[in-house]
Amino acid sequence: MRFVSAGVILALVGAAAPTLAANDQGKAIFAERCVLCHQEDAHGAAGVAPSLVGTLAPNLGSSEGKRYLSQILVSGMIGPIVTEGHKFSGLMPPFRADLSDGEIAAVINYVLGTYNGVADATATSPIAPADVAAASAGNPVATDTRKLRESIGVPR
Ligand code: HEC
Repeated sequence: MRFVSAGVILALVGAAAPTLAANDQGKAIFAERCVLCHQEDAHGAAGVAPSLVGTLAPNLGSSEGKRYLSQILVSGMIGPIVTEGHKFSGLMPPFRADLSDGEIAAVINYVLGTYNGVADATATSPIAPADVAAASAGNPVATDTRKLRESIGVPR
């Protein structure tokens, strides 16, 4: 577990004013587009949508994992998954028609920063708009994303 002192958080926030605006944007998009299924505090709902709390940060450890975090918003995902021992077999809708690459990066960075303890999410923006564009380039579909999730092999 990594704990960051309040002073360090304040220093990061102060240093990251422009990206903090992007994080506000991510917060607004989350409220508008994601809460319906993933719930107010991203804890998910049985049989509807998985929790996004504390499960996503390991994906940042590899380029495939980072691609997964971008691609799931680009193309959505369909079919059975397991997370924290809970099974889901739902449909995550694609957002590439409705959100720009920058908006997609903002919302996933908000989820990483606010619900996954990625303490410097606002400072370094772990997913850049260019990462989203790269994930979009191959025109992935929802079934591809589930295969990608499986292939990453992050312990679930
Ligand atoms: C219509 C309901 C719905 C909406 C709206 C929705 N999701 Fe999802 N989301 C799902 C479902 C269902 C899954 C699991 C898909 C599966 O079972 O294959 C999922 C999976 C995910 C995952 C992967 C979790 C993991 O453990 O790998 C992420 C990340 C995610 N959603 C983020 C978002 C974000 C961010 C938004 C808003 C931009 C959003 N979702 C909007 C239903 C939704």
